Amino acid sequence: MTKSSRILLLLGSVSVFAAGCHTDMWVQPKYHHPYSETTLFTDGNSSRPTPDGTVAYGKPKTDEALYTGRTGGKLVTEIPAEIEIDGEKVNTRKDLRKILNWGQERFNAICSHCHGELGDGKGMIAQRGLALKRPPGNYHTDRLRKMPIGHFFDVMTNGYGIMYAQAPRTTVGDRWAIAAYIRALQMSQYMDQSKLTAEEKNEWDVAEKTQREANRELNKPQL
Ligand code: HEC
Repeated sequence: MTKSSRILLLLGSVSVFAAGCHTDMWVQPKYHHPYSETTLFTDGNSSRPTPDGTVAYGKPKTDEALYTGRTGGKLVTEIPAEIEIDGEKVNTRKDLRKILNWGQERFNAICSHCHGELGDGKGMIAQRGLALKRPPGNYHTDRLRKMPIGHFFDVMTNGYGIMYAQAPRTTVGDRWAIAAYIRALQMSQYMDQSKLTAEEKNEWDVAEKTQREANRELNKPQL
């Protein structure tokens, strides 16, 4: 064994030894939860009372629908009337265009590499990148088309299956705007033809025929 490998072996065993035993604050009596019972203080409480004039950090999250996408445990079917995006309060009923633009920008930036810009689950990562255990969800299934909008907020907030939560990289407002945009994506890829008037149905047929002809032209072999 060379001198340097002996030194390496020695260093290695010292670090394993050092990491293996905790003689520090790791092993010490402590209160793991605030407001635990104790005999240490005369009031029997492990937490000290807050001094007068203490200012709360953040704000209480009392609006259940806004922060969880549920009311009384049930998924909400509409986005909240007001959300904050880019530091500004926006009325979602009056300014839907603004919400959708914001949702589109955020979706393309942080979801599309997996889910694809159409939300069909065919993003670059799914096609060529990481070998994912399960493919990213395709939003254009009957199940997800019928899902209350609160589900999308919930999936982003808490994660879903193998998908990690998106809350650390989004604000509450971002997540509602993205949920609204997912609905727009779903509508862009699916139309219930029975809801069309005769005139709209006619327009639809003409558009479809034009599209078919254009595709045929595009797919002609180039000689
Ligand atoms: C790193 C890749 C990745 C990113 C980024 C990602 N997702 Fe996903 N997503 C997945 C995968 C994988 C699944 C399927 C999870 C499973 O079935 O276990 C999924 C599933 C979903 C579903 C389907 C849930 C259901 O009920 O089937 C929704 C909705 C969704 N993601 C929304 C989003 C949104 C919105 C974003 C961005 C804010 C996002 N995801 C970002 C990989 C990703």
